[in-house]
Amino acid sequence: MSAPTIDQPTTTATGPGPVREGAFGNARSLVCRECRHEVDLGPHYACPECFGPLEIAYDFPVVTREEIAAGPRNIWRYKALLPVPTDIEQSPNTEPGFTRLLKATNLGAELGIDNLWVKDDSTNPTNSFKDRVVACALSAARELGATTFACPSTGNLANAVAAAGARAGIRTVVFIPSNLEQPKQVNSAIFTDQLVAVNGNYDDVNKLASEIAGEEEGWAFVNVNVRPFYAEGSKTLGYEIAEQLGWRLPDQIVIPVASGSQLTKVHKAFQELIALGLVEDKPYRVFGAQATGCSPVSIAYKAETDAIRPVKPDTIAKSLAIGNPADGIYVLDICRESGGAVEDVSDDEVRAGIVLLARTEGIFTETAGGTTVAVTRKLVETGQLDPALETVVINTGHGLKTLDAVSGIVSAAATIEPSYDAFRATGLGA
Ligand SMILES: Cc1ncc(COP(=O)(O)O)c(C=O)c1O
Repeated sequence: MSAPTIDQPTTTATGPGPVREGAFGNARSLVCRECRHEVDLGPHYACPECFGPLEIAYDFPVVTREEIAAGPRNIWRYKALLPVPTDIEQSPNTEPGFTRLLKATNLGAELGIDNLWVKDDSTNPTNSFKDRVVACALSAARELGATTFACPSTGNLANAVAAAGARAGIRTVVFIPSNLEQPKQVNSAIFTDQLVAVNGNYDDVNKLASEIAGEEEGWAFVNVNVRPFYAEGSKTLGYEIAEQLGWRLPDQIVIPVASGSQLTKVHKAFQELIALGLVEDKPYRVFGAQATGCSPVSIAYKAETDAIRPVKPDTIAKSLAIGNPADGIYVLDICRESGGAVEDVSDDEVRAGIVLLARTEGIFTETAGGTTVAVTRKLVETGQLDPALETVVINTGHGLKTLDAVSGIVSAAATIEPSYDAFRATGLGA
């Protein structure tokens, strides 16, 4: 069988000129996750031997906790473990990361979990974890000489790409489903005048992006042709959780799943930290969270099969609405092998999860976080998650982006005239 042409070094996403020495830090090559075939670093995402997905392989130096602690308070403190150059801080980017890890005592009491933490990634520059992956993709795009920075997106990624592109001074084109939440559309359009709304769902937008990537010169689609570099950014979530816990891994972690990239990379991060001797080698369980209206991985998990059947999304959790998840099979493997699970919840449970996190911890999450909190509750109730073990729940995005999801279920307790008598009449006084 002849090698596919789409993914050869001569294809798009790069401009002319050689890649500079050290452009990808300690990254050694791209390696196929299926057959382990190695390919030179470049804008490639599919194995030329078996079409499996490529990911970054490294030759890591000795890295100490002290070196990391001396770094900047953003993801570049882990630059030795990422495919970025040692002078990455010199290039304008959005400098995401080092978000808060909150002890969630009130939420823990509600859910019956003794030792619960929330990793709150809604405080990143464009209010979602996507700033992490985009920062790494931007570095790769720049080093590969790309002239256009682009993505198909369920919303948050478009926000992050548009903002990072603006700061880097690179042309940015972002593609979204046209029915996306209005705040997410505005959040992209404010940073770029090249937002393209496509009449279709995310999977249609993604297909279009792959086609454009094959045709247009010099385009770096962050989650298509530079996906291996992009995906590595999610590892920083895992590194930060371990560092913020005092260089320890949690016993259990609950992560929302759309394409599944984030979950697989947090697991990769934990494995790297163990291999590098930065944390103690111990078991940890990984749990995936989906909304029932788009739960292909959860369906496969429950059916005890590896066959993930694509679905047509129908849920308020639009950021998780990927019906054909690229990394779904790896999510299944990790969750099963670690003793975790994949679970899903209804849209009403998603809304309830949003309100619960807000009223217990003062964190306003978007629908993805509502899904994760609600799934955590269900995992406890069904006995799948051990409430006695230290648990981290990841909040990946901010609630102001999905206001409509909850605006119908919360409102003012009373509307009154400005008088004390009127206030007394509400019954809200002491
Ligand atoms: C807020 C939020 N959480 C979680 C995810 C899921 O990420 P992944 O595709 O890596 O599974 C997304 C994806 O867009 C997202 O926007």
